[in-house]
Amino acid sequence: MKTQVAIIGGGPAGLLLSQLLNRAGIATILVEKHSRAHVLARIRAGVLEQSTVELMREAGAGARMDREGLPHDGCNLSTAHGMFRVDFSEGCNAQVMVYGQTELTKDLYDAQDAIGATIIDEAEDVALHGVDGDAPSVTFRKNGAPQRIDCDYIAGCDGFHGASRPTIPAGVRHEFEKVYPFGWLGLLSPTRPAAKELIYANHPRGFALASMRSHSLSRYYIQVPSSARVEDWSDEDFWGELKRRLPASVAATLEIGPSIEKSIAPLRSFVSEPMRWGRLFIVGDAAHIVPPTGAKGLNLAASDVRYLYEALTATILNGDVQALDHYSDRALTRIWGAMRFSWWMTSLLHRFPDQSDFDQKIQESELHQLETLQSARATMAINYTGLPY
Ligand code: FAD
Ligand code: DHB
Repeated sequence: MKTQVAIIGGGPAGLLLSQLLNRAGIATILVEKHSRAHVLARIRAGVLEQSTVELMREAGAGARMDREGLPHDGCNLSTAHGMFRVDFSEGCNAQVMVYGQTELTKDLYDAQDAIGATIIDEAEDVALHGVDGDAPSVTFRKNGAPQRIDCDYIAGCDGFHGASRPTIPAGVRHEFEKVYPFGWLGLLSPTRPAAKELIYANHPRGFALASMRSHSLSRYYIQVPSSARVEDWSDEDFWGELKRRLPASVAATLEIGPSIEKSIAPLRSFVSEPMRWGRLFIVGDAAHIVPPTGAKGLNLAASDVRYLYEALTATILNGDVQALDHYSDRALTRIWGAMRFSWWMTSLLHRFPDQSDFDQKIQESELHQLETLQSARATMAINYTGLPY
């Protein structure tokens, strides 16, 4: 097989890039390790920045999102002293859209099918070759038979555990990592959301988040120790702990129901630089991981896609060979902005096992600043709704 851009990974990054490139007239082949059903069963992010929303529209995949997504103009922070709202219009003129990653991924698969894009799923043993030369290729097995794609460029969109990042020689890669001493236990339930907007709760028993996917589908998270196992948490225990951490007035009216999905996500910050090696470009979770606080993971994948899409079209369609040289630096500037914000929100809202009385007072003081200083809320709003591209 032969194509212009081989894309590895059929998560949001790979699908969005494939969709944008195909619409620009650039040929792609996307190879995904799992089945489409498996990819669509994953429950992950829920909040889209305005720029991600616009990119979905530009990709011709935004119609259902515009119909069914929930635009939010603010979010709530709950502390020991009560709850206050961060109004996004105080800091910027932007909104976020509550629309699940599962739905976004489904829309992208549908859009890809509609334009006849090539997606090969259940590809085994995907490997990259010759990325530091002029003739890169990707090999894999499909139904046991060996396959090969010759291409001009490779986009590594295969997530944190994929094959792309390790292809960059260890001596070239500079990795930055911070692991947090806790995880998030998440539960999805077909119930009415706890409130109209999201509630991020700082509580002595640990962080809690009341989020949603629609008016009848709620998503909740509670901070748990790194050692926690999902099978040790009954639904009843989860709801009880969530209620203790949310404001009493919200807990009193919380609708409790069955759990559709329950899982634990570890929290880490991770960046691998540079995001280019020869003709390989790494994108999204393949290059970086943020802790979920602030909902930046999916949105960063989308901004990487935009930068790479712009650089590939400039090079392939307009002969601007320098454009690809700037991809890594442009993407990393925005990535570090989101790294800082998600680290800050994580530090602000969680209880750390070694948190001293001093640390505790600093956390409370920072929450007090947010509650009382419009400029502090404005800074949070700008970061939450998404830094400029
Ligand atoms: P992925 O979604 O990981 O997609 C990568 C794709 O590549 C996958 O389909 C995978 O099957 C495929 N793949 C892997 N290896 C190979 C290979 N060798 N060959 C071919 N294909 C391969 N973000 C938030 O903002 N909010 C959240 O609440 C949130 N919750 C999360 C919960 C979990 C459990 C996880 C893992 C992530 C969560 N994230 C969240 C992060 C967000 O989901 C990711 O940032 C987003 O999925 C990144 O998209 P991506 O396309 O870069 O990577
Ligand atoms: C969700 C996840 C987040 O990390 C966040 O900050 C907001 C919402 C969610 O899954 O709904």
